[in-house]
Amino acid sequence: MRPPISPESVKQLFTHARSYHHWTNQPVTQDTLEAIYELMKWGPTSVNSMPARLLFVRSEAEKEKLVPCVLGSNIEQIRTAPVTVIVAFDECFFAYSKRLFPAYDATALFANDSRLSEATAFRNSSLQGAYMMFAARALGLDVCPMSGFDNALVNQRFFQGTTWKSNFICTLGYGDESKLYPRGPRLSFEESCRIV
Ligand SMILES: Cc1cc2nc3c(=O)[nH]c(=O)nc-3n(C[C@H](O)[C@H](O)[C@H](O)COP(=O)(O)O)c2cc1C
Repeated sequence: MRPPISPESVKQLFTHARSYHHWTNQPVTQDTLEAIYELMKWGPTSVNSMPARLLFVRSEAEKEKLVPCVLGSNIEQIRTAPVTVIVAFDECFFAYSKRLFPAYDATALFANDSRLSEATAFRNSSLQGAYMMFAARALGLDVCPMSGFDNALVNQRFFQGTTWKSNFICTLGYGDESKLYPRGPRLSFEESCRIV
């Protein structure tokens, strides 16, 4: 049995972590982006399918390409964040199934059932997006996931002619704590959970 992680680490990952809307100008290096992936890749996915694909939008030109796709105050957020990640999924993720789960080749299962493959891609890329956010927090970064954007336009502008499709976007960097607003409450255990 493993001991719990330290209270400081719990704060950093959960209780003191916030969704940041304002950013310091500390840049995010390629090494850091690679380190985030090297942690998130270990998160579980069904039959180890790993359908998520990440596009790290970091250059000014590519950020401007993303601007027309996002809504309202999200525009300023993606302009000022050092990086915005487009968390996508590969519709043909099962091309890697044999390699990723040698104990059982699930390729045909997904290839012959588009409803199953779509649900698997969306569910597991969402989970992997969450692993990505917590990997970033573990490495001292901050994030803000966002759904206020036009998925179809992102797909057209960034993924045309590929099998990648956008799920959600997420700003990434070092948050400006001075601009945080009071935190929203959360539902209690009794409101959200049942033990049967
Ligand atoms: C799927 C998802 C979509 C979100 N979309 C947006 C968004 O479009 N714009 C935005 O500013 N924040 C967005 N948020 C951030 C939430 O409002 C924020 O995580 C929530 O209020 C909790 O804030 P806290 O982490 O600071 O406690 C989104 C969060 C999630 C998980």
